[in-house]
Amino acid sequence: MSHKVTLWPQNIEFIVANGQTVLDAALNQDVAFPHRCKVGACASCLCRITRGQVSYDLEPMLTENEKQQGWMFSCLAHTESDLVITFGEE
Ligand code: FES
Repeated sequence: MSHKVTLWPQNIEFIVANGQTVLDAALNQDVAFPHRCKVGACASCLCRITRGQVSYDLEPMLTENEKQQGWMFSCLAHTESDLVITFGEE
């Protein structure tokens, strides 16, 4: 099942297909999404989920606190629902 991701506050939307990562979906749809390694090592793709759920095949290195704050590794994350994400601190 595919899900819609909204990048806030730019209000850019893209669709993540089943099995795709958030980063791959963004890049496939020409969304300028920060990234480097694509394997969960550089943290360039780190952003925060303000609404929605993701899952990982391989759990990224996030503390419980960071997870609760909504931090997500976009290059590893699969969507479990529609998402609203931001690169801002708040
Ligand atoms: S692109 Fe390097 S951690 Fe995601």
